[in-house]
Amino acid sequence: MSKILVTGGAGFIGSAVVRHIINHTSDSVVVVDKLTYAGNLDSLNDVSASKHYAFEQVDICDRASLDRVFAQHQPDLVMHLAAESHVDRSIDGPAAFIETNIVGTYSLLEAARHYWLSLSADAKQAFRFHHISTDEVYGDLHGTHDLFTETTPYAPSSPYSASKASSDHLVRAWQRTYGLPTIVTNCSNNYGPYHFPEKLIPLVILNALEGKPLPVYGNGAQVRDWLFVEDHARALYQVVTEGVIGETYNIGGHNERKNIDVVRTICQLLEELAPVKPAGLAKYEDLITFVTDRPGHDMRYAIDANKIERELGWKPLETFESGIRKTVAWYLANEVWWQRVQDGTYARERIGLES
Ligand SMILES: NC(=O)c1ccc[n+]([C@@H]2O[C@H](COP(=O)([O-])OP(=O)(O)OC[C@H]3O[C@@H](n4cnc5c(N)ncnc54)[C@H](O)[C@@H]3O)[C@@H](O)[C@H]2O)c1
Repeated sequence: MSKILVTGGAGFIGSAVVRHIINHTSDSVVVVDKLTYAGNLDSLNDVSASKHYAFEQVDICDRASLDRVFAQHQPDLVMHLAAESHVDRSIDGPAAFIETNIVGTYSLLEAARHYWLSLSADAKQAFRFHHISTDEVYGDLHGTHDLFTETTPYAPSSPYSASKASSDHLVRAWQRTYGLPTIVTNCSNNYGPYHFPEKLIPLVILNALEGKPLPVYGNGAQVRDWLFVEDHARALYQVVTEGVIGETYNIGGHNERKNIDVVRTICQLLEELAPVKPAGLAKYEDLITFVTDRPGHDMRYAIDANKIERELGWKPLETFESGIRKTVAWYLANEVWWQRVQDGTYARERIGLES
């Protein structure tokens, strides 16, 4: 039984990782999360009563608090997911991305290194620092058959992906220079339950239900490789427990789709699962609205996930069709979760403004 420190555990992927560990393993979790707008304790309601769960509201840039958390909880493994993660926000205000993704990762690496140096020989050998990153560090692909591999050179396009690329380099340098036992994973676009409604898939589902426009950048021809978040959480647990120190694993769903096709698929599923539409709306697809493209928008991302499949035996369980159906059904069945995000209750409650 290991104790796993999960940074960003109140976010979209982090909460899926925490639910996976508590529900499917005998390990325990210490969540370290600043609770920015993207952190939502509601996403942890299913597991927060477990005796295997602890929560620390801590900013990863705050080294003194990190040292206290490491000393108090004595984790065996670290999974680092805390980040600013929304590309559009990084274009409007890059400072928080530099602060959390680069400076915060540096501060976490140093706290982890000093803690690791203090461990007994056995604990030191078993310790892992797993850094969770994105395929966006590779830039974009122009050929229709090219794939990102673990050796594709970095060419980030946005402040978000540049800050994630910087953090990946720091993590690898801490392994090479100080011997800290690190592993890096780079994953494609995730989707699934508990996804903050500023991201494409939940935004489209919720806007459609409310009869609002469904914004599609440019002509919608950008291609992304979609991975169901629970498949990602399973992969991450497998990497932190079985992965090889110093290695990088790319994680993807073999599910390349154009953005416009993703939006149309959601509309078709809503016709079936939510046939009663807002007044005056004939078809959900009528809400699709093409908007000015994002600056620096990457055209295509696609992952070669052969290494993790070959070396760790991981494979995604969901196809895009099965995963997107589950996702739409989850949003239809969990209105309380997204209503509390949309009206801000989830954030006001945790700072004590409401009971
Ligand atoms: N969402 C994707 O499709 C995707 C794909 C590949 C990789 N990733 C990476 O996975 C990780 C998690 O992504 P996500 O989509 O769950 O993000 P998210 O925005 O949903 O969650 C981020 C979490 O980090 C916390 N956080 C932010 N700044 C912090 C700080 N300074 N200190 C402590 N906690 C802080 C937030 O409160 C939030 O709970 C990120 O590192 C992201 O780069 C995401």
